This record gives sequence, structure tokens and C-alpha cells, in this order.
Amino acid sequence: MQSTLVSKYNVAGPRYTSYPTVPYWKNDNFSLTEWKKGVVKSFSESNTEEGISLYIHLPFCESLCTFCGCNKRITKNHNVETPYLESVLNEWRLYLELFSERPIIKELHLGGGTPTFFSAENLKLLLNGIFRDATIAENPSFSFEGHPNNTSEAHLQTLFDCGFTRVSYGVQDYNPTVQLAIHRLQPFVNVKRVTDKAREIGYTSVGHDLIFGLPFQKIEHVIYSIEKTKELMPDRIAFYSYAHVPWIKGNGQRGFKEADLPSAAEKREMYETGKKMLEEAGYIEIGMDHFALKSDSLYKAVEEKTLHRNFMGYTDSKTQFMLGLGVSAIGDSWYSFGQNVKNVEEYQDLVSQNIIPVYRGHILNEEDLLIRKHILNMMCKLETSWEEESLQFKELPEVLEKLAEMEADGLIEINATKLKITEKGRPYVRNVCMAFDLLLQRNQPETQLFSMTV
Ligand SMILES: C[S@@+](CC[C@H](N)C(=O)[O-])C[C@H]1O[C@@H](n2cnc3c(N)ncnc32)[C@H](O)[C@@H]1O
Ligand code: SF4
Repeated sequence: MQSTLVSKYNVAGPRYTSYPTVPYWKNDNFSLTEWKKGVVKSFSESNTEEGISLYIHLPFCESLCTFCGCNKRITKNHNVETPYLESVLNEWRLYLELFSERPIIKELHLGGGTPTFFSAENLKLLLNGIFRDATIAENPSFSFEGHPNNTSEAHLQTLFDCGFTRVSYGVQDYNPTVQLAIHRLQPFVNVKRVTDKAREIGYTSVGHDLIFGLPFQKIEHVIYSIEKTKELMPDRIAFYSYAHVPWIKGNGQRGFKEADLPSAAEKREMYETGKKMLEEAGYIEIGMDHFALKSDSLYKAVEEKTLHRNFMGYTDSKTQFMLGLGVSAIGDSWYSFGQNVKNVEEYQDLVSQNIIPVYRGHILNEEDLLIRKHILNMMCKLETSWEEESLQFKELPEVLEKLAEMEADGLIEINATKLKITEKGRPYVRNVCMAFDLLLQRNQPETQLFSMTV
């Protein structure tokens, strides 16, 4: 039964870090002027009340991991650090000119690439430059992505002194066979060293990223990786399904063949086994791909119903306005999305001419806003409701009809006003969201745009 479900529901589908998803943005209605309008409106509506979120993309890595789907630039030349950070600060200044008051930073995330490619000193200069013209909110939530092989005590201490209390480390898998296949040799002692050090300094949440479905990975590799992870008991764990998206330009997924990847049924078994092991160890599954201890703020966010999802993934609280700085970064003004150019030189060049480097985006219409709410509800709370008239849309009856099959398969429960994803349906949350994704249904892609849902 389980394997029938896997083959039935294993289709290409979005991970819904946004709705509309990036390939469905209507770039024709979008312009830099429109983006700025959305920024000005959203900032003035929300800054005083809830503060803003800031995402800073730091794209450099010293070595290419051949599974990686992120936007990165591989180099060993650290002279790139200063000019890049100067561009980020200049981009920030371009936004400060649009803000009607001093921004209040509630959430800040350094992602990449590898933020710890940059020296601690340079990261401090960046943050001081950002904070000079901003106020830090009460109970801020500051986090960064650290590479276990190059995160130093100086990185951890400097960022902690700047207000960071959360760090997530890319672990992926502890087995040499898999590590060789993904070109990422990373011994357990390195992960232990940076995990222990972060705790010693005072970080309240240390996260580890694990992936199942990697090339040459077998179920016993997943079991071993989770056994090792349990020795360190990180506060949260991202347990991602490997997203195979080799058609994305420059992502470097190579060095292995499709045939070297586990099948969908094997992947599902890896997920089920991993989930069971994590739950036995005291982790609670959160939304999609995530597990947390009950003491972690992500679990508390579920309890307090404040869990939110945006381009950073899951976050503890929602801000209406999220600004993305740096190459390829995406911003979300709630009324619109805007993405920066993806090439480092082009990014630096535009910013040096005092041009906000956003090159594409989407203005959300009323239908988009409604569907976005339902998708966020399902991704964060595993349920949604259309009891209130304001949550209904024209095609809702057809959407619900489409879900009948998922109901028959036991993946969801629906009544007249509410939909709930069952425990059995949990691995298929992306599929349930796809039923609400009217843009995807109206315009089925001719080539594959998204990774498979299993
Ligand atoms: C930017 S990286 C983490 C920071 C640092 N560069 C490192 O590698 O340790 C963010 C995370 O995205 C996840 N990731 C990247 N490519 C992925 C893919 N193709 N499928 C699933 N997860 C992926 C990995 O778990 C990775 O740790
Ligand atoms: S996984 Fe991390 S270190 Fe490896 S290429 Fe991707 S961003 Fe760089």
C-alpha cells in the first residue's frame, strides 16, 4: 500500500517557500518601480508593530559539493570578501533611502553559499554596517548557516556578540561512501567541535541539516548518520529529501548518474526510518522536513501557532516585510516578491551604480494572496479552513473536488469548512498544496521545473 502511494504521489512539485512559486511569477507586470512601491507600503505598515526580517546571501564556498542546489560561487580567493560586503552595505543603503523611519530588525539570517567563508572580522564589519542605521527588536531571532569544516571559535563568538543565538550546520551524511560521492569530506569530529563550541558560547539552538536520497546512499547510511546525530542531540534537525534539479544553471549537480540515486520507494523508506529514529530520540516533526526538541523555539512556535514559512524556510515568527540582500536574494513585501540578479559581478556592478539589483518578481493579486494563506496554513499547521468568507475563492469547490482522491487514500480529512492533513498524509503535504496551486494547474509545465515530491 505504502509503495503504491509513493508511486502515485511521486510527482514533480514545488517546496512552497513562496506562493506563487518562482517559475510562475508574472514578470511582465513587475518592475523596479512596482517593487519599490511595495517595499515602501509594507515597511511603513509593519516596521513599528512587528519589525522586519533581513536575509543576507553570502555566496562563496571554497569547494563544490556536487549535490548542492544553492546559489554559490566556488573560489579559494578571499580577496572577494571585502568588495562583496561593501556591495551588500551599499544595497542596504539604497533601501534605507526608501524607509520612512529607522528599521527595527526582528529576524536576521545569514545564508549561502557559506557565510563562514568570510572572516569573523569581516562579518563583524558587515553587521556593524547594518546595525548602524537600525534598531534591534526585543527578542530578536538571529541565525546563520555554518560549514562544520570552517566555522571557527572566532566566528561563533563574534556572531554571538552581535546577537546571534541560532546556528545550523550542513552535515548531510556521515558515511565516507556518500561523502566521497557528494565531494564533501567532513568527519564527525568537526561537527562535534562546532556543536560543542556553539553551546559553550551560549547559542540556544544548534541545528544540523541531514539529507536522504543522496547518490550511493543506502538505508544503512541514513541509520548510521542519525545514530551519530543522536550523539550530539542538536536542538533541531532539517531532514531534507535530496532535490535533484540538475537543469538549474550552474548548480554543479554532477559526478554521479541518475542510476546512482536511490529509487522513490527507497527514499520513502529512508524518510520513514529516519523519522521513527528521531521521534524515538525525542524529536517532534514540524511542518515539512523539520524536527525539533521540545525545548527549541521552532517547537514553541508550533505550540504558540506562530510558525511561518518564507524563503529562509521555517521561521519562529512572521513579519510582513522580509528584505533579501546580496546576489540572488529574494525579498517579500507581502504584496510582491523581488529577486536580485544571480551573477556576483552583475550584482556588484548594479549596486555600484546605485541601482537596486532586483531583476524579476511578482505582484500578488487577490487570488494569489488568498491561496498563499491556505498554502502557508498547510505548510505550517497541516490544516486550513475556509470558514470565513474572506478565505474563499472562486475555484474552491473544484479544488476540494480534486482532493477527494487524497481523502480516499487517507492523506487528508475534509469537512464543509476545513481540511486537515493526517499523519499518513504528512509526507505528501507538497501534493496537498499543489491541489490549491491554481497557477500550476492552469499552466502545467512542459519541462520539469521542480524536484520530485518524494
Ligand atoms: C547553504 S547550505 C549550508 C551552509 C554551508 N554552505 C554548508 O554546506 O555547510 C544549506 C543547506 O541546504 C541543503 N541543500 C542544499 N542543496 C540541497 C539539495 N539539492 N537537496 C536538498 N537539500 C539541499 C543542505 O542540507 C545544506 O546544508
Ligand atoms: S552545500 Fe554548502 S559548502 Fe557545499 S556547495 Fe552548497 S553552499 Fe557550498
